[in-house]
Amino acid sequence: MEPIIQEPEGPEPEATRRDAGITESARANRGWWDRNADEYQVEHGTFLGDDRFVWCPEGLDEVEAELLGPPEELKDRAVLELGAGAAQCSRWLAAQGARPVALDISHRQLQHALRIGGAFPLVCADAGVLPFANGSFDLACSAYGALPFVADPRLVLREVHRVLRPGGRFVFSVTHPIRWAFPDEPGPEGLSVSGSYFDRTPYVEEDEQGRAVYVEHHRTLGDRVRDVAASGFRLVDLVEPQWPEWNSSEWGGWSPLRGRLIPGTAIFVCVRD
Ligand SMILES: C[S@@+](CC[C@H](N)C(=O)[O-])C[C@H]1O[C@@H](n2cnc3c(N)ncnc32)[C@H](O)[C@@H]1O
Repeated sequence: MEPIIQEPEGPEPEATRRDAGITESARANRGWWDRNADEYQVEHGTFLGDDRFVWCPEGLDEVEAELLGPPEELKDRAVLELGAGAAQCSRWLAAQGARPVALDISHRQLQHALRIGGAFPLVCADAGVLPFANGSFDLACSAYGALPFVADPRLVLREVHRVLRPGGRFVFSVTHPIRWAFPDEPGPEGLSVSGSYFDRTPYVEEDEQGRAVYVEHHRTLGDRVRDVAASGFRLVDLVEPQWPEWNSSEWGGWSPLRGRLIPGTAIFVCVRD
């Protein structure tokens, strides 16, 4: 999937499909998000809101979705947010009386979290190596954070399983896998299949030396379900938010036209038994 904003000045990176391992993916994405965090927050900050919990470009809000449970039950809960960006979701969680920890691989994204403010910890770390003791959290969540970008999602899922207490929920949203079969265009050209849904080769942007500067990894829906189950979670819901009438936003491959016809987001609701 193409990144949703343009790179700053410099030679255009080359888009390709090729393998990219755990370390290369993490290094590329840390750099990309550090370089692009400012533009990302300018472009999407208003839509996200400083202290709302928005799951996806469709605009599904945790206030209506309650995927983490009823808001009144969030009070005093220790919640880990992965790939938190500017920690908008953690800020909403804190307002409900929860005790969030916002984690992101990008230092610059977390500086935006600092800029906006909030009385909760910010942790700069890779979601595949969580710096927390076993059973530290009651809940975990991620709105498009980390999981679309990692080469081995099971590493992340196992880590989340480890740091959750029994009975804890992990809810995460990712690009709906079906989108990988279509061009990343908002108009009618984005409605015709252009590649195999079953091709798991990562989307990679390279610099002039062939080094990855941005990576996204594709898993089919079945892959994601198997990843969840193999990591010790029970999948209790798979939410595919519909594009709502009120949302007229168009950016990258996202648009009302596509949103009304094909799903754009998959949200996995998992329980750690
Ligand atoms: C699309 S943004 C989502 C951020 C936020 N949830 C939002 O909705 O704005 C993806 C975030 O995932 C972070 N990320 C990417 N790979 C990661 C990894 N391996 N570990 C932790 N965070 C990662 C990026 O730095 C970025 O902040």
